[in-house]
Order: sequence, then C-alpha cells, then structure tokens
Amino acid sequence: MSASIIDGKMLSQKVRDSVTEDVKRWVEKGNRKPKLQVILVGENPASRAYVGAKTKACIDVGIDSDTLMLPDTISEQELTEVIQSFNEDDNTDGILVQLPIPNHITPLSVIEAIDHRKDVDGFHPMNVGRMSVGQPSFRPCTPAGIIEMLRHYSIQTKGKHAVVVGASNIVGTPMGIILSRENTTGKATTTICHKFTKDLTKHTIDADILIVAVGQPGLISGQMVKEGVVVIDVGITRIADHTTEKGYKLTGDCDFDSVSEKASWITPVPGGVGPMTVAMLMKNTLLAAKKSIYPPK
Ligand code: GUN
Repeated sequence: MSASIIDGKMLSQKVRDSVTEDVKRWVEKGNRKPKLQVILVGENPASRAYVGAKTKACIDVGIDSDTLMLPDTISEQELTEVIQSFNEDDNTDGILVQLPIPNHITPLSVIEAIDHRKDVDGFHPMNVGRMSVGQPSFRPCTPAGIIEMLRHYSIQTKGKHAVVVGASNIVGTPMGIILSRENTTGKATTTICHKFTKDLTKHTIDADILIVAVGQPGLISGQMVKEGVVVIDVGITRIADHTTEKGYKLTGDCDFDSVSEKASWITPVPGGVGPMTVAMLMKNTLLAAKKSIYPPK
C-alpha cells in the first residue's frame, strides 16, 4: 500500500476561510473584532516562528492580535500579574502563553492564572476537566485539528484501536481523552504510550490509527506499523540543512518513506498537523469572543 496524503495545508485554509466568514458576520452585527493576546517569554527561535504564524493567521481571518514579548528573566509572580491584567481587560477575548516557558516558571501555574473563559489553548484544568467529562470546553488546538482532519477524510475512529505516542498536556493526553470518549467524537479504544512504555512496537504495530507527538525524528519506522494504518505525525523538529535558505528543515517523528509504504493515510511534515493547529486557534478565539463555550449567566 502507498499512503494517501492528509493535506493539512488545504484543510487549514478551509477552516480559516470559514472563520473569516464568521468573524465578518460577527462584526457586521455590531460587535468589535475578536482579540487574541499572545505572550512570548524569552527568545526561543521556534516559539518566535510559531507566534509569527499565529499572528499572521489572525490578520488573515480578521482577528485583532497583540504580542507581548517578555524577557526570560521575568518571575512567575510578574508573569501571573501580566496575565491577570489581560483577564480583566474586556477587549481581550483570548490569552495564549507560548510554551515552553523558562524552567524557573511552572507552566501549569501560569496556565491556571489565565481566566478559563479566555483559555483559547484549552490547557486550563477547567477546560481539560470539562472536556474529560464531555462538557463544552475549549479543546486544545492540535488534537482538535487532528479530529477535524480525520472527519474531513471520513476516517472512522469508532471501535478502532488508536495509539497515541507521547503523553504531553499539549497533545498526547488531550488527544487520548478525545479519542477514547465513548459518547462524543472518538469512541476508539485508546492506548497512550510514553517514555516508560516498555515495548513501543508491541503497541504501534497494533494501531489502526497512530498519532505520534514526541519530537524525536525517525522514532517510528515502517517496521513498527501495520498495513493500512492511518498515521498522524505531530512531530516538528528543526534539523540543520544548509541547502535550504533558512539553514534547517522540519522533520516529523516518522520515517516518512518507510511508514508511507504501509499506511493508508499519512500527514506530511511540514504541511500536515502544524497549519491545523493555527487554524483551530482562530476558531477557538472566535468562540471566546462570542462567549459560546461559557455564556454569561
Ligand atoms: N507550544 C507548542 N505548541 C503549543 C500550543 O499549541 N500552544 C502554546 N501556547 N504553546 C505551544
């Protein structure tokens, strides 16, 4: 089998076009434009690039955005106070702190400081908890984008064995929750593998749907998957490549050539999951502006 490509670039544009239309209608009704506040701590080049992509997407869909750049010497207390000021600002609909943040700051403390009604990343325990029990919530953008991809290509999850490699709060854990819930989207039997998993291949070889979110190029080879598997590669690692203008290329967690020989569907890197994450952030920011998830009482 030779895999068909899941085109994240094309699909993300569809999502963005639909958000653009919805934003336009929202503003025509007399509302102000949705506003996303991005907070970037430190100088991580990859984070800068991601934030650039997010703010550019805002411009494209008609969402206002502002990026506050803070030095990596900022204390947790100071950062929390900054977040508090955006929580209280009626003109700010969504707040996003780009991760990772410097080691002296605890990510979950910062995430908890964000008003859950403005948590467009869907990382706040209130949103994670509500998602886990099937209540309306902001869903983390990468897992939400993956579900959108599976739906678009009519890839069924119900009753399938979904294997998630990587248990991060950003991707693996929420992905596992969404896929496994029996009364909403997923309805899949779900295995979450992580760095303590003893025999990774034992699990990946049994996957009908394999989602890999580790950040380790080449972790998954063709020998580790079964014929016909659907592969979603969330990995996006910069590898030095002096033949390119930027001096690097982006590489996923799967050995694309050998895995795509056996898979039925596969996401490319770049052009797969990455653009979907950004598109779903636009969707969440509009939901925040409309107060759709948490209507005022
Ligand atoms: N770092 C990597 N992915 C993400 C994401 O989806 N949101 C934020 N805030 N930081 C990230």
